[in-house]
Amino acid sequence: MIRRIGILTSGGDAPGMNACIRAIVLTASAYNLEVIGFHHGFNGLLEEDYQTLLLHHVQDIIQRGGTILKSARCKALKTKEGAVQAAKVLQKLHLDALIIIGGDGSFKGALAIAEHYQGQILGVPGTIDNDIDGTDYTIGFATAIDTALDAIDKIRDTADAFERIFLVELMGRHSGYITLSAGIAAGAEQIICPEFATVNKNQLSALVGPIQNAQLLRGKSSYIIVVAENSYPGGTTALADDLAAELGTECRACILGHMQRGGRPVGADRILATKLGAFAVEQLKNGANLMMVGEVNQQATLFPLEKTCERNKKIDPYLVRWQQRIARD
Ligand code: F6P
Repeated sequence: MIRRIGILTSGGDAPGMNACIRAIVLTASAYNLEVIGFHHGFNGLLEEDYQTLLLHHVQDIIQRGGTILKSARCKALKTKEGAVQAAKVLQKLHLDALIIIGGDGSFKGALAIAEHYQGQILGVPGTIDNDIDGTDYTIGFATAIDTALDAIDKIRDTADAFERIFLVELMGRHSGYITLSAGIAAGAEQIICPEFATVNKNQLSALVGPIQNAQLLRGKSSYIIVVAENSYPGGTTALADDLAAELGTECRACILGHMQRGGRPVGADRILATKLGAFAVEQLKNGANLMMVGEVNQQATLFPLEKTCERNKKIDPYLVRWQQRIARD
């Protein structure tokens, strides 16, 4: 039987994390469970930096980006001593369970703690990257797409005015979910992400050909290439410079960066976060352990935490084919 739950937000923050914290506290309170929240991810757990979370703490946070618990990455948890210490603190604070809202790195930390902890551990997928197996979407992804779209639409206006080529860099350390989705929705002419062919200086002709085709077909006009971070040696600014040299025309780079992580969560993220937070508490009561709560085909599901990082989730092959064969000219 569980009485006391610890929660933390870890890794890159994602819009909707607050909505998830709120749902956990509301649901726990309905079942008479106590909740404490650790600050700054696993660091707060190791340093015993925490607060009791009561209903008034989660009032009016559903609409706020970031996380009221703060977030961080935690190097100390990568050592055995760190994992042992984290388990000791959980036991000392009489916590029957821990919920981690974060991405795959955070889930690895959770699994390390589990080797030394008798209580239950559940993960909730919170990352703008949407690169976690076992759930169709992660909390924060939908907002990040809208934020990126807002920016790309604005870039399109100035690109149109100057009939310029723009390269817009989007986040997604290991995965092109954000880039493909925002690129399709923005009507980008080209998309460069890990799931497509990688690009280096010797393969620029693959980018140049479609640009020249487009210019032949429609004359000089705006042309937008969205690029996932880490797709080109030296980054997207270097790619813009190299492409400009190859084409003999100017190309501008725009790195959207961390603005993609901020902002009010869109409705879809608030709803997903609420569903998964509530489901996590109910599943803890049912005895679930070492699982991630997710949503597949609108059904809340449980998925083994250790399988969440296998990267079997594929970005939509239909859209990939359409983009590669049809949209880019
Ligand atoms: O994991 C989320 C994410 O925003 C990635 O898309 C990005 O590569 C990374 O975090 C950036 O991390 P940091 O905030 O440490 O620079």
